Amino acid sequence: MLGLGTLARVASEVRRDIAAARERDPAARDVSPVEILATWPGIHALLFHRLASALHESGVPLLPRTLALVSRAATGIEIHPAAKIGRGLFIDHGSGVVIGETATIGNDVTLYQGVTLGGTGFQTGKRHPTIEDNVTIGSGAKLLGPITVGHGAKIGANTVVITDVPANSTVVGNPGHPVKVEGRRPEGPDADWIHLPDPIAEAIASLAGRIAELERRVSEITGEVPERIAQVTPLRPTRGHSPAGG
Ligand SMILES: CC(C)(COP(=O)(O)OP(=O)(O)OC[C@H]1O[C@@H](n2cnc3c(N)ncnc32)[C@H](O)[C@@H]1OP(=O)(O)O)[C@@H](O)C(=O)NCCC(=O)NCCS
Repeated sequence: MLGLGTLARVASEVRRDIAAARERDPAARDVSPVEILATWPGIHALLFHRLASALHESGVPLLPRTLALVSRAATGIEIHPAAKIGRGLFIDHGSGVVIGETATIGNDVTLYQGVTLGGTGFQTGKRHPTIEDNVTIGSGAKLLGPITVGHGAKIGANTVVITDVPANSTVVGNPGHPVKVEGRRPEGPDADWIHLPDPIAEAIASLAGRIAELERRVSEITGEVPERIAQVTPLRPTRGHSPAGG
């Protein structure tokens, strides 16, 4: 049941959340803990969640979801009461953040507005991401499915992530791909997400080459000049630098 021990744990978690806001939000540096507690929406959402989660774990019906609903209405941040959230989470600005039922968040994680830790469909069981310690997730990033984001990783704003993210990496884009791992650009053919071979275009180009050869021979036999020789322009011209530096 919900007891004094649980309430003391919730109070200590909320203290750590306020400290996290002071450490990681430049706008909070000179603001007192009481003012942060009173006016930071990310802190309100976590306060509601810490209570809702404790009640949910204690088997209290209805109230945890009601608290989550009130929190969403007040802050624009939706956290399922069953989501597991570690210490020192900082949700900056907050509006549009969604944290699903089976999501797990480690310690000292930072989320900006519009982050979704969601599922990919209608699966049951573990279907939301696991975020390890010291991860930063930029505004608008969508992390979908039971993936793991390794500790210390940075996810760029508006990135869409559907596969595991290596620890201490920076992942950007859609689909999200690492542009840095342990401070260095990834190397090797698998790291080049831009200059990928296109087997379908290659097959069409090969067929077009054979047709062009046949047209040339027919033209030699009949003496008629074809209107145009079969040729294929690249379906998707490659542009930009390879993230592997190639
Ligand atoms: C990803 C991020 C954390 C920077 O991480 P970093 O490890 O310092 O990475 P860098 O800045 O060195 O960028 C590495 C590469 O990714 C690119 N990149 C960075 N952020 C990107 C993004 N959101 N989308 C696409 N590409 C991005 C950079 O242009 C750079 O490309 P290049 O190597 O071809 O020049 C940062 O760019 C970001 O998106 N932060 C989120 C901030 C946010 O949401 N703020 C909201 C405040 S209200």
